[in-house]
This record gives sequence, structure tokens and C-alpha cells, in this order.
Amino acid sequence: MIKSILLIITGGIAAYKSLELIRKLKERNIDVTCVLTKSGSEFVTPLSVASLSGNHVFSELFNLTDENKMGHIELSRSTDLVLVAPATTNIISKMAYGSCDDLASTILMATNKPVMVVPAMNVRMWHNAATQRNIQTLIDDGIKFIGPNKGDMACGEYGLGRMSEPQEIINSIIEYDNSLIHQPLKNFSAFVTAGPTREKIDPVRFISNESSGKQGYAIAQSLFNMGAKTTLITGPTNIPLPEGPSIIKVNTAEEMLDACEQQLPADIAICSAAVSDYRVNNKKNSKIKKTGENISLDLSENPDILNRISKRNANRPSLVIGFAAETGEVEKNAKLKLYSKGCDWILANDVSDGKVFNQDINKITFITDSITEKWNEMSKDDVASKLSTNIINHFSA
Ligand code: C5P
Repeated sequence: MIKSILLIITGGIAAYKSLELIRKLKERNIDVTCVLTKSGSEFVTPLSVASLSGNHVFSELFNLTDENKMGHIELSRSTDLVLVAPATTNIISKMAYGSCDDLASTILMATNKPVMVVPAMNVRMWHNAATQRNIQTLIDDGIKFIGPNKGDMACGEYGLGRMSEPQEIINSIIEYDNSLIHQPLKNFSAFVTAGPTREKIDPVRFISNESSGKQGYAIAQSLFNMGAKTTLITGPTNIPLPEGPSIIKVNTAEEMLDACEQQLPADIAICSAAVSDYRVNNKKNSKIKKTGENISLDLSENPDILNRISKRNANRPSLVIGFAAETGEVEKNAKLKLYSKGCDWILANDVSDGKVFNQDINKITFITDSITEKWNEMSKDDVASKLSTNIINHFSA
């Protein structure tokens, strides 16, 4: 259980959110000790950080008083979690390269505790190839990232790079804590469908769609982290597979349905795949050649996996969750889908104008037969965490 956090505040305008974060962590009885970098102290004062945390604020590596109170090695170890929020492009780069030229970066090198990073930067700095390389290096090193969110920036630009909100950070910490220690879903089994399906027209052509699989992969990862015995049933994608869940790769909707049915009985079914609604009856065994004539495809409707799983008499998972990608009247259409398909929850999103597909962020309306909740725009990882938390609450209620 996380009882203490070492919070490193680096120099970004979003540092003001860290004050609220300290307050919220303290409300949860988490002891917070803060390290303020030199540039961090341009945005928030040591006095406000000390007052809110109730602890001495550490800033300098070679400060005799600070080192006397607690040396930097001890500081890096005498905590349950090191949290960097906000994390600037600079600290991310220093972490990736292992530099340690101040107290914050030295602690990050010396710690033997889990590290979580909450980036906050301008959209172009976020998308810069160097930043993305550094982030990938840190992810490969086991560092966990929270956010960033998309939205208006202090500099007037718009895009990805906004620091996650304090409550979102708390949710991620709780999820991380759960995944490390409690594994609240350890007695549950789950399967998740993700990605597109492909319906062959001839050996080289197929019908498919834009789904990247990112949201489903993030959900499978999150459920696995929470201890669920998780299987990811995925159509063809180009993204890295989650680590831990069992993986079943399929191409067509019928193969995906088969794979799902083989997972039964299961406690939780999440259908996030963008299943092709039709398959080709008159598919050819050799490549179709041009003849100068029009040709037509004869299409049959594919099985609706979500519908089939939801309406099973035997072995229906106790929680069946679907997605609704809508281009208009999102809430109304999603509710109709909830009832017509018979699932328990729907996560609806607006996919008009290329929103969602292939993106890293998602904006969900969460619908059950009694609740309609509009979630903020957030990363697909954060959507997965929030959904996992709802699943945990559902089973513990
Ligand atoms: O009907 P529509 O495709 O909009 O419904 C979306 C939901 O239904 C998603 O959860 C999707 O995974 C699921 N679905 C399915 N099998 C299909 C079509 C959709 O499981 N053939």
C-alpha cells in the first residue's frame, strides 16, 4: 500500500496543479515529501509546498542543511513511490540519459522505488522525435507515465501535452498501487476483443477499418495489472502487444467470435474491437483482375459478437461491456445499443472527423442502465484505468 510519496516538482507552468495534488494526496493520508527543482521554484514557492505537504522541502544537492536532514540517497529510498509532476521535457531527457546534475535527477538515478512521471509540456515539444524517443526509453526501463492530456495550453497552442488533472493522477496511483499489491481482480477472468477484423475479398484485398487496437490493448493491460486472468483477442494491428495477457490473434469476425466463445466461462467480457459488419460471400481464391466491367461484392452480415455474448443463456459473463463508436447523437445511439445488444455497460465515443481512431486519447461517455457519465478527454491508458476502477468497484459492491 502506498503510504508515502516523494514528489518531484519541475519547472513548468502546470506546477500549480501539484499544490492541489499534494492536498489531495494528504487527504488520502499519504505522506508527501517534495523536491523542488530550481526552475520548479520559479512557478511555486518552497513555502507553499512546505505548508501544504507539512514536510521540509528539498531543493539542492549540495546543501549542507538538507543533506544533514536527509541525504539524497536516503531521500530516494525512504518512500513508497517517486512521482515527477509536472515532468518537463528536460527532466524526461535527463532521466532517459541518466544525467544527474541536481538533486531531482540524482534521486531519480539513485532510487530503488517505482517511478511515475506526469509530463507537462508544449504540444510540439511533446511530439518532438527526441521526446518520444526518450519516453520510449523510459517506458522500456519500467517507468510509468500518466497522461498527458489534450487541450488548450498556457502558451496559447492546442494539443497533447497538458498535465493530467490531480484526480486523474490519484486514480493512476491507486490503480498502480492495486496492481502492485492488492491485485483486486485476481480471482476474475476476462477477455478483451480489440483492433479491426479483416474480411478477405481475394488473396490480396480485404475489407477492414481504421481501428488501431490501442484502447483494447490498454484495457487488457490494465485488467492484467489488476490481477485478472486476461486474454486479448486481437485483429491485425501494428502496435506492441500488452505484456502479461494471453494473446489470440485472429483475422475475421467469425474467428474472433470463435476465440471469444472458447474463453467461456469468464467473468468479464469487453468487446472493444471494430468488427467488420459484413463478410464477402463471393470472395475469390485468385487475385481479381480488371475486366473493364463493374463488379459487385456479395456481402453477408457477420455475427455480432457483443450481442451473442450478452444474450447467451449458458456461461454469460457476469459483466459484458461494449463500445459504441458514433458519428452523431452519441448518447442516444449508445443507449439504444446498450438495450438492443443486451450488454451491461457501454463506452461511447464520437468518432466523427477522425477523432479517436488511431489516436492516443479518447473521450468517453460511460453508460449503464442507471448512469450516464461524461468522462474528460484523456489518454487511452487513463480510460483503461478508469474502466478497471469501475469494474473493481462493481465487483466489490
Ligand atoms: O453495432 P456497432 O458495431 O456500432 O457496435 C459496437 C459494439 O459492438 C462494439 O463493442 C463492438 O466491439 C461490438 N461488435 C461486435 N461484433 C460485431 C459488431 C460490433 O462485437 N459484429
